[in-house]
Amino acid sequence: MLSKYFKSSLLKEIAAKTGTPTYVYSQAAFLKQVGAYKKAFKGLDPLFCYAMKANSSGALCALAAGEGWGADVVSGGELYRALRAGFEPGKIIFSGVGKTPDELAYALESGILFVNAESFEEVAELERVARRLKLRAPLSLRLNPDVDPHTHKYISTGRLGSKFGVSFEEAQKIYMYAAESAHLRPVGAHFHIGSQVHSAAPYGLAAGRLAAFMLRLASRGINLKYADAGGGWGVKEGGEMEDPAALARELGAVFAGTGLKLLLEPGRSVAAPSGLLLTRAIYRKASGDKNFIIADAAMNDLVRPALYGAKHPVELVGGGRGERRRWDIVGPVCESGDFLAEGVTLPEPAPGALLAIYSAGAYGMSMSSQYNSRPRAAEVLVTGPASWKVIRRRETYADLVAAEVK
Ligand code: LLP
Repeated sequence: MLSKYFKSSLLKEIAAKTGTPTYVYSQAAFLKQVGAYKKAFKGLDPLFCYAMKANSSGALCALAAGEGWGADVVSGGELYRALRAGFEPGKIIFSGVGKTPDELAYALESGILFVNAESFEEVAELERVARRLKLRAPLSLRLNPDVDPHTHKYISTGRLGSKFGVSFEEAQKIYMYAAESAHLRPVGAHFHIGSQVHSAAPYGLAAGRLAAFMLRLASRGINLKYADAGGGWGVKEGGEMEDPAALARELGAVFAGTGLKLLLEPGRSVAAPSGLLLTRAIYRKASGDKNFIIADAAMNDLVRPALYGAKHPVELVGGGRGERRRWDIVGPVCESGDFLAEGVTLPEPAPGALLAIYSAGAYGMSMSSQYNSRPRAAEVLVTGPASWKVIRRRETYADLVAAEVK
């Protein structure tokens, strides 16, 4: 189980010193996922660009950068954090469907590897910005390979009819246009079929279509260097990442020996297993046939259960001797959708008991808000068997109003 990275005694100490709710990450676990990717893809030697949206904490990003990884950013804010965390600009790519002219200018001035553009209008804007800056923008297009990744509809992105990417037909026209432009330099092609994908087969399908398209482009004199297969590799129900060797086999079957430089944009699979949300049970109550644990963490801290029906493994820290029963773990936010887990079997927790919500290192803190004027949680990094540090302090009431103007 994941808890081998998070000893109960350490979690109790962290809760006592920093309070709750607190996100706790394990450096060893994070580096283990990074290492597993490197090992699985050894023969292919891809550039890994950590998808910062999963968790943009400077401390975690610095770990990825220290392993030679680049970053996949989707906003000016993420680019700012990526540069601050120490990612080399030449290993940063900029994805997303709606980059503003200011964001494009920031990316070009920073000297990033390339922009993954998603429409002709965006490419035209990129060209205008590049002209103004007197440079040539490195361009990649996000292709929509029309592949079903079999995941939740909110995070499925690889089918035609979604807002993401462009069709192969349209892409060909855009590449031909870009190749003629003095301010655009077509360098790559990209797909990202979705997130929390459990099978490598859809990647193989999308990669095959991408490679065939790149070959057709080459026959028209446009030789791209980078093939970017996006992120999306899933995490199993228990919280561990799916074996990346399966993904490496599918992508290797298409790209090995092509001379193309493969890129990957993993986010969740690296960050999710590396973190948990530590929360304290405040009260217990029963209603109808349900038993509730009211915790001090809520949907503003971890929205995934409410938004996607995500199921995160939960444990009582240090176990418990009480009678085992089914519980709904809910937060203090004034909405019935505010739950962290539903119907989980746990020993009855004493008031004040600590709960660990696992596999919360990705899309937990990064999607958190101050809803109900709840200051955001603290973040802690466990750096060794008995060592840890606060990497982001708990927000205060003053932080809630810090940006308000009188
Ligand atoms: N690259 C692109 C272009 C993406 O849009 C995403 C995620 C990734 C890479 C990283 O995907 P990952 O390896 O993390 O699956 N909030 C949702 C997930 C949204 C994913 C959005 N795009 C959740 O909590 O499940």
